[in-house]
Amino acid sequence: MAAGWAEVTVNCLMHYFKQPAKLKLAVIIVVPFLLLCYGVGDVHSSIVHENREDLRSLLDFKQGITSDPYRALGNWNTSTHFCHWNGVNCTLNRPWRVMVLNLTMQNLVGQISPSLGNLTFLNTLDLSQNLLQGIIPDSLTNCSNLNRLFLSYNNLTGAIPTSIGFLSKLIVMNFHRNNLVGVIPPAIGNISTLKTLDLGENQLNGPIPDKLWHLRNMIYFYLDGNSLSGEIPQAVSNISSLLDLSLSINMLEGTLPSNIGNAFPNLQNLFLGGNTFQGHIPSSIGNASGLGRIDLSSNGFSGQIPSSFGRIGALYCLNLESNKLEAARDGEGWEFFHALANCTSLQVISVSNNQLLGVIANSIGNLPTNLTYLGMSGNKLSGVVPPSIGKFQDLYALLLDGNSLTGTIEEWVGKLTKLEALDLHGNNFVGTIPASISKLTQLSVFSLADNNFNGFIPPGFGNLQCISTLNLSYNNFQGTIPVEFGKLIPLTTLDLSSNELSGEIPDTLGQFAQIKTIRMDQNFLTGNIPTTFSGLKSLSILNLSHNYLSGPMPGFLCDLDLLTKLDLSYNNFKGEIPRTGIFHNATVVSLDGNPGLCGGTMDLHVPACHFAHRRVENINYLVKILTPIFGFMSFMMLIYIIIHGKKTARRPYLMLSFGKKFPKVSYKDLAQATGNFSTSNLIGRGSYGSVYEGKLTQAKVQVAIKVFDLEMRCANKSFISECEVLRSIRHRNLLPILTACSTVDNSGNDFKALIYVFMQNGNLDTWLHHGPGVARKRLGLVPRMNIAVSIADALAYLHYDCGRPIVHCDLKPTNILLDGDMDAHLGDFGIASLVLDSRSTAVGYSGANSSVAAMGTLGYIAPEYGQTVRASTCGDVYSFGIVLLEMLTGKRPTDSMFGDDLSIVTFVERNFQDQMLVKIDPHLQEECKGSIQAMPEAENEICRCLLSLVQVALSCTRLFPRERMNMREVSINLHAIRRSYVAAIKQE
Ligand SMILES: *[C@@H]1O[C@H](CO)[C@@H](O)[C@H](O)[C@H]1NC(C)=O
Ligand SMILES: *[C@@H]1O[C@H](CO)[C@@H](O)[C@H](O)[C@H]1NC(C)=O
Repeated sequence: MAAGWAEVTVNCLMHYFKQPAKLKLAVIIVVPFLLLCYGVGDVHSSIVHENREDLRSLLDFKQGITSDPYRALGNWNTSTHFCHWNGVNCTLNRPWRVMVLNLTMQNLVGQISPSLGNLTFLNTLDLSQNLLQGIIPDSLTNCSNLNRLFLSYNNLTGAIPTSIGFLSKLIVMNFHRNNLVGVIPPAIGNISTLKTLDLGENQLNGPIPDKLWHLRNMIYFYLDGNSLSGEIPQAVSNISSLLDLSLSINMLEGTLPSNIGNAFPNLQNLFLGGNTFQGHIPSSIGNASGLGRIDLSSNGFSGQIPSSFGRIGALYCLNLESNKLEAARDGEGWEFFHALANCTSLQVISVSNNQLLGVIANSIGNLPTNLTYLGMSGNKLSGVVPPSIGKFQDLYALLLDGNSLTGTIEEWVGKLTKLEALDLHGNNFVGTIPASISKLTQLSVFSLADNNFNGFIPPGFGNLQCISTLNLSYNNFQGTIPVEFGKLIPLTTLDLSSNELSGEIPDTLGQFAQIKTIRMDQNFLTGNIPTTFSGLKSLSILNLSHNYLSGPMPGFLCDLDLLTKLDLSYNNFKGEIPRTGIFHNATVVSLDGNPGLCGGTMDLHVPACHFAHRRVENINYLVKILTPIFGFMSFMMLIYIIIHGKKTARRPYLMLSFGKKFPKVSYKDLAQATGNFSTSNLIGRGSYGSVYEGKLTQAKVQVAIKVFDLEMRCANKSFISECEVLRSIRHRNLLPILTACSTVDNSGNDFKALIYVFMQNGNLDTWLHHGPGVARKRLGLVPRMNIAVSIADALAYLHYDCGRPIVHCDLKPTNILLDGDMDAHLGDFGIASLVLDSRSTAVGYSGANSSVAAMGTLGYIAPEYGQTVRASTCGDVYSFGIVLLEMLTGKRPTDSMFGDDLSIVTFVERNFQDQMLVKIDPHLQEECKGSIQAMPEAENEICRCLLSLVQVALSCTRLFPRERMNMREVSINLHAIRRSYVAAIKQE
C-alpha cells in the first residue's frame, strides 16, 4: 500500500519536474517527504478536501470535453492533486487555488463549462486553438482576477457576454477566429487595463462602441474580418500606446479622423483595407512616423495621395490599391511618388486600380532601390515605362497591366532578374521579347497578353524554369512555338491564343507535368496534337480551336481524366470521334467546324460514321435534330445592341419593341396569348425552342411566338444570332418581326422570345406534302413559281444587297412561310451566318452559325458542307435548287426512293427531257393536263416553263460550288420564266 502511494506521488512529482535534469532533485525532495507522509497517514484525502470548489470546477470542465485526442486531461483524476494536473497551476500558498488553466493546442472538443466561473483566483485562462463549441459562459465574468483570457481559434458561437465588463483587471482579451455574433458589448470600453483586444474574424456586427476609442492603454487593437458598421469617430483620444490597429474587411464607412496620425503617434501597423471608407486620406498620417505597414486598399478613398507618406521613415509597405485616388496627366497629384523616395525602407508599394493618369515619371528611379513589389495596374498610365525601372534589381513583382503603356520592354526587362511576377497585359506595348528574358529565371507568373508585341518567341524561355503561368495571348507573335517550352515543367497555364504562330505543336509540350490549361486557339498551327499529350495527366482545359490542325481525333484525349473542357473546333480533324472520357459529355466538347469528323455521342450532332459512301453519307447524316423544324425570319433594329448593352445591369424585366407602332409585350402578355404556352397553341418545335400561335389581347394581333429554350445548348446564341443577323435588313419576302421579349419568367428564369406576324397559310412544306393529320393542299404552277421567285429575291437580297453577305444556311420548305395572299416569306435565321472572316468571329461571340454540325437540314444541305468549314452563299444556292426540285416533283429529297445511287438531283437529271410531264408532282400533272386539254397550244409553253425551271434547279445543284449559278442569276432567270409563261397563258 505504502509502496503504491509512493509510486503515485513520485509519478506526480516527476511530471512536475518534467526535465530529466530535475529528476535527481525530485528524488532528494521526495524521499524525506514520503517518510513524513508515511508517518502522518492519509495524505491523499487531506489534499482533496482542501479546495473542493476548484476541484469540482475542473472536473466539470473535464466533463464538458467530449474528445481529448492527446490525452491532455489524462492525469485529471482525484488520485492526483489538481494543482498538478496538466495545464493547471495553483497559488504558491494555501489555500491552493487555481491561478492558471492553459490547455492551448490540445484539439479538445466540447463546451466550456460554466463552472469555470468558480475559479475566482484564475488570472490566466488559455483555451485557444482547440475545437470548443457552444457559447462563452456568462459565469466566466465571475473570474474577477482574470487578466489574460485566450479563447481564440475555436468554434465558439453566440454573443460575447455583456457582463464581460466585470473583468476589470483584464489585460488581454483574445477571441480571434470564432463564430461569435452580435454586437461588441460597449462595457468592454470600461476595462481600462486592456492592452490587447482581438475580436478579429468573427461575425460581429453593429458599430465599434465609441468607448473603445478611449482605452488609453491599448496596444493591439484588432477587429478585422467582421461585419462591423458605422464610422470611426472624428474625435478619438490620444492613444500613444497603440501600435497595431486593424479594422480590415468590415463594413465601416465615413472619413478617417483628420488627426489620426497625431492621435496614434506610435502606430506601427494600420490595416483598414476592405471597408467603404471615403474622403481624402488625412495627411496627418505622415505624423505617425513609426508606421511600417499601411493598408488602405479596397475602400472609396478619393483625392490625391498625400505626399506626407514621404515623412514616414519606417514605411515598408504601402497598399493603396482599389480606391479612387487621383493624379492628373500634368503631374498634379504625383508628388507623393517623388516624396516616397525618402522612405528608405520602402519595399512594397501598390497603387493599382485607382485613377492615376499620365506617364510614369522617370524619377521612379529615385525610389529606394530595395523595392520588391510595385503595383500600378488598372490605372490610366500612358507613355513608355522609364528604363530607370531596370534599377530595381530586387523587384519580385512588377504589375503594370491594364493601362495604356506603350513602347518596348527591351531596355529594362532583362535587368529585373529577381522577378517572380511580371504582368504587362492589356497595354499597348510593342516590339519583341528580348533574348534577355532568359535571365528572369525566378519568373513564375508572366503575362504579356493583349498587347502589340510581335516577332518570334525567344527560345530563351526555356530558362524560366520556375514559371507556372505564361500568357502571351492576343499579340502578333509569329513563327513556331519553341521546343524549349517543354522545359517549363512547373507550368500550370499556357496561353498562346490569337497570335500568328505556325508550324506544329512541339512534342516537348507533353512534358508539362502540372499543366491545367493550354490555350493555343486562333493561330495557324498545323499537324496533329502530339501523342506526347497523353502524358498531360493534370490537364483540365485544352483549347486548340481555329487552327489548321488535322489528322484523326487523338484517342488518348479520352484517357485524360481531369480534362473538363475541350475545344478543337474549326480545324481539319477527320475520322471517328471517340465516345468515352471527355467525349462522353457533349456540353464540354466543341468540335464544330471539323467537317471530316463523324460519330461520337448523339449530343455532339455530328453525322454517324458510314465509311462506304462517304459523300452521300456526309449529306444524309447531317444533323436533323439540331435544325429547327419550324422557323421564322425577322427584322430587327437595335435589338442586339440593346440586349448586349443591358447585359451587365440585368433588370428583372427588359422588353424591346420594334418600331413605335407595336406595343411592348411582357412575359404575362405572351403567356396569356398562348394559353400559358399550352400544347394546343404549339405550332412547331425546333432545336432552339418552340413556336406558339397566339393572339395578343391588347394589340389584337395574331402572332407567332418563338420561345427560345435557353436550357438547350446554343439557344441563347441562336437568339442573339437571329437578332444580330436581322437587325439591319428589310425585304418584303423576309418574315417581319413585330417585337422581341427578353425578360424573366414567373419562376425567375431567363426568357427570350421573338414575336412575328402570324402567317395564315403556314409553311410550304404542308402545301407540298401530307403532314401527319394535315391534308395536302393544292398548289398550282403559278403560285409555285411565285413562291420560287419570292424566295430567290429574298436570298439574292441577303447575299448581295444588305451590306455584309448573309448566308441563311437552312433553306427548306418549312422555313418558307405563306401569308394570307400566298406571298412567300423566308423565315428562321437561327443558324444564319454572316460571312465573316472566321478568325474575327472567334474573338467576340463566335455566333451560333457557320458550324457544319449545325448547318442546314438533311437533304437540303450542300455536299461541300461535308468537306469544308465555311458557310457560303453557294450552299444556299444548292438548297434553293433542292427546294425548287421538291416543288416540281412533289418529292422530298429524303424520300425513301432516294438512296445511295439515286438522289433527287440524279432522278430529275435522268427524267429531265422526255419524261418530265410524267415525273412531276401529280398535282401539277393534273393542272397541266387540264390546261393542255383546254388549250392544246399551251402544251409547249407549259413544258418549256417546266423545263426552264428544272434547268435552273439543276444549275443550282451542281456538285462543285463554283459551277452553280449565283442567286442573282437565279432570280433574274426565274423572273423571266414567270414573265414569259404568264404572258403566253394570257395570250392563249
Ligand atoms: C506552472 O508554473 C510553473 C512554475 O512557475 C511553470 O514552470 C509552468 O510552466 C506553469 N504551468 C502552466 C500550465 O502555466
Ligand atoms: C500556454 O502554454 C503554451 C505552451 O505550453 C504557451 O506557449 C502559452 O504562452 C501559454 N499561454 C499563456 C496565456 O501563458
